[in-house]
Amino acid sequence: MPAIVHTLEELQGIREAWRKAGESVALVPTMGSLHEGHKALVTRATEEADRCVVSIFVNPLQFSSDEGFDDYPRSLHSDEAFLADTLVDVIFAPTVEVVYPDGLDAVVTHNAGPIGETFEGASRPGHFDGVLTVVARLFECVTPDVAVFGCKDAQQLFLVQQMVRDEQMPVRIVEVDTVRDSGGLALSSRNALLDEESARQALAIPKALEAAGEADNPHHARSRAREVLEGAPGLDVDYVDVVDPSTFTRVDEGHTPQEVRLIVAVTVGGVRLIDNRLIHFGQ
Ligand code: PAF
Repeated sequence: MPAIVHTLEELQGIREAWRKAGESVALVPTMGSLHEGHKALVTRATEEADRCVVSIFVNPLQFSSDEGFDDYPRSLHSDEAFLADTLVDVIFAPTVEVVYPDGLDAVVTHNAGPIGETFEGASRPGHFDGVLTVVARLFECVTPDVAVFGCKDAQQLFLVQQMVRDEQMPVRIVEVDTVRDSGGLALSSRNALLDEESARQALAIPKALEAAGEADNPHHARSRAREVLEGAPGLDVDYVDVVDPSTFTRVDEGHTPQEVRLIVAVTVGGVRLIDNRLIHFGQ
């Protein structure tokens, strides 16, 4: 049964004991509302280090004023129950005051740069500055040797890796493949907000990824996915594009890299969903 820790003092006491015992630590940062996708991150974390901390913190800095920070589902008790049969040692569930002791004004410490303003960042200005700020702060609090992130949030993962590299943070980032339901829909806390019809309509997303995977070059991949998404009822497409996985920049006409990441964002039944797929061409 994981220990529930709310304060920095308690966390640092436990962390110090682990350090003295020579034990390595993995962190899985989350905003709660845990599902099987998170469990895959936790399982991987427990394989990568001696100790595992799951943080549960709904970060106000990554929500814009119209994105419903107050309405974001919070379910600490069911999250605790969900992790009860795992090898997680500590659930770190701090308050806003613990994470941001100087208050929320002018607290953003990290700028996600130009890539932070594209795709998800274009639709959600400031989102990635907020994500990087909280991730850096969680690293400061937990001092993990390893931190585990899901590939579903591919742009987030890219930007976290970039921050760790640029700032030479002493943490190894481990990525875990997206977990999907039986229809292929990527697991996300937001899926719980889909009604029956929207959940059915959302299955066009994995179909689009599949169609793109059958294409013979990046541009066909993009157009095939777009065709599926735009032809599907009930979906409002924000973006469907292909990026170079090493730079997260758009693959323009005339370039045909061997590997691309197809990325999509749609709204269905009022719920914004993102997904992506790595596609290899040629040998
Ligand atoms: O992916 C998420 O759940 C959040 O963006 C993260 C990494 C926990 C930061 O708040």
